[in-house]
Amino acid sequence: MALDWLLAAPLPPAVPRQRLLYQRLRDAILCGRIAAGTRLPASRRLAAELGIARNSVMFAYEQLVAEACLVADRHGTRVAALPALAADSGRTHDRTLPGLSQRAAAAMQPEVGRDAETLPFAPGVPDLAGFPFRSWRASLDRAWREASTRQLGHTPYGGEPALRAALAGQLSTVRGFAVKPEQIVITGGTQSGLDLCARLLADSGDTAWVENPGYLAARAALNLAGLKVHAVAVDGEGLAPGEGDWQAHPPRLIMVTPSHQYPTGQVMSLARRLTLIERARAEGAWIIEDDYDSEFRRGGPALPAIYGVQHDAPVVYAGTFSKTLYPGLRIGYLVLPSAVADDFVRAAGQATRPGQGIEQAALADFIRRGHYTTHLRRMRKRYALRQRALRAALAAHPGAEVRVSGGEAGLHLVLWLPQERADVEVEARANRLGLGVRALSRYAQAPVRCNGLVLGYGNIDEAQIDGLVRRLRQAMAV
Ligand SMILES: Cc1ncc(COP(=O)(O)O)c(C=O)c1O
Repeated sequence: MALDWLLAAPLPPAVPRQRLLYQRLRDAILCGRIAAGTRLPASRRLAAELGIARNSVMFAYEQLVAEACLVADRHGTRVAALPALAADSGRTHDRTLPGLSQRAAAAMQPEVGRDAETLPFAPGVPDLAGFPFRSWRASLDRAWREASTRQLGHTPYGGEPALRAALAGQLSTVRGFAVKPEQIVITGGTQSGLDLCARLLADSGDTAWVENPGYLAARAALNLAGLKVHAVAVDGEGLAPGEGDWQAHPPRLIMVTPSHQYPTGQVMSLARRLTLIERARAEGAWIIEDDYDSEFRRGGPALPAIYGVQHDAPVVYAGTFSKTLYPGLRIGYLVLPSAVADDFVRAAGQATRPGQGIEQAALADFIRRGHYTTHLRRMRKRYALRQRALRAALAAHPGAEVRVSGGEAGLHLVLWLPQERADVEVEARANRLGLGVRALSRYAQAPVRCNGLVLGYGNIDEAQIDGLVRRLRQAMAV
């Protein structure tokens, strides 16, 4: 059998001949061009036919014998009988793959502006240029210098002990929580914290409530974990479930953003918080409190977190460093009631096999040395200035009469638009002008309707705000 075609042109220049021979022989066997049972020439003969060293042929044969594509015995080398499926795997591009789960397909959302995080009004992006690179690098250097071999392995369940301890201290000073480090689980940001809550606190098919309008990524995480997601309307006091919601969609998880509702920005009243705890307790539900940006609270102290309102209430508090440091850090945390903390920590450890010990140690160092508090103080002032400049620019440039809300905390404002000016159209025009705004209606599910723009201001220099708002007005003009 002539096999001279095995090394026929084109020959890629950088691939050694023995490797090329191996690959082509393997492809020819897998696609059936050389049939099962075919005896291959002895290595010396094939080497002569192809004009290459015998060692190269021996390399290819040995490799294919190791992969069970060839069988070598005392009679020589022959092609193995391979399952039919493998026999035409050279043509896999013709076939359809099984595809994603139905859950994933259903949870997929159009990702508006996903690649636009660096555009000026992109919601939720902190001042990245203001990040304290030097002190962070110093903490990272120290963490690496002091790293133990233990820290190169998976972190202990719950996360790096130094970070859990630093966070317990930080939360007691800033949030008034009396928590032990053992009640804290370090996560890969809120998103993976929500995924853990969905998998460890609920069973597939249970119902999770989200706010309407609400944080789309939370909806996706809960859906993807196999929960039924029910969207509950919010009003001026926060989540506003009616009796119908409790009766027809009894929740196992209730996901809320009480300090600064995302995206509309209002603060959940204390009465609403207390009612929610009572009702959740009665229904056997968990409240997941997403406290994503209360560090940037303005005009007085924050209302106490739901987590701290009552001892051992059914509340899990989720915090993140995405807004206070940078989103790519991917470090957040959950704070659990003491009664479930041990079990949750163990289950979470088994679910995620946690790591990033060095980064977590660096963050602990950064907090302990006071850099985190200093950075927060600087950013709080900066965001207050930016918000003021944005409000002033919106008021100064004549255009449609609009109402602005949501500035009590965080890094974004909501600009409510009159009904006749559809927010998705303004969004499209604004984003063609490079602004990165998000239409408010994208966060809502029927029957709730809202029409406005979510404007992030964390990552815009004050000096640019006036010009950007001028452009925004252009996009809003009909
Ligand atoms: C409502 C809300 N929660 C949480 C987060 C933080 O998520 P992560 O920690 O996964 O970056 C964000 C960030 O955009 C958010 O808008």
